[in-house]
Amino acid sequence: MAIIASNFKTNHTRKSTSLFVNEVNDYLKKSGIKNEVYVFPTATSLDTFQTVSNFTIGVQNAYATASGSFTGEIGTSQLDEFEIKTILIGHSERRHILGESQEEITKKYEFYKNLGYKIIYCIGEPLEVKNQGIEKTLEYIYEQFVGIDINYENLILAYEPVWAIGTGVTATNQDIKNVHNAIKVKISKPLLYGGSVKVENVREICQIQNVDGALIGTASWKVEDFIQILENTK
Ligand code: G3P
Repeated sequence: MAIIASNFKTNHTRKSTSLFVNEVNDYLKKSGIKNEVYVFPTATSLDTFQTVSNFTIGVQNAYATASGSFTGEIGTSQLDEFEIKTILIGHSERRHILGESQEEITKKYEFYKNLGYKIIYCIGEPLEVKNQGIEKTLEYIYEQFVGIDINYENLILAYEPVWAIGTGVTATNQDIKNVHNAIKVKISKPLLYGGSVKVENVREICQIQNVDGALIGTASWKVEDFIQILENTK
């Protein structure tokens, strides 16, 4: 059974999130599937998940603090109110669009690890690195583990090649095998693939050796598609 995670990014309202949640919760209850399922909504909708019992809600981002003076950020004082204990860290959009450095990412990782959070830690290379071949790609990815405790028991990894995220261009099975096999030799943790995963290709991707599931953006934003993805990977 695959681990399936939906990353809402900056999509959905509280109303549509609430509808999404209830439909997924009902589906999981009725279908009895035992997949490990995560949904990462926008922070403004974390309270709509109070009724969730069949999957886990996580936060897409939070600062390495309980509270304080960090304008625009949230910390564990806000997350605790919603009993959130799962976080995405190192997502390529945080790295390449919002400018989070490896140093900031490792600080955040250490902070939430020390609090026992389930962490989905994201790695992946930009197109210009991919085009230099697998050795350079792996070199780049290994640098994203600098400062990261890869033995943390509550860690899930997600390989998301930047050039496949939101582009509709999914990595080939060989691309995925090359990276997942290499990572798994070094790190025996669950390893998801992300980057233009779709209803049509999710089953095949999750059947690739050393792929333990998928972290999905676009294709998971419609609840009927997300439920079909769960159906295709149960
Ligand atoms: O975190 C998952 C996301 O980065 C993948 O996005 O739209 O290519 O599925 P997408």
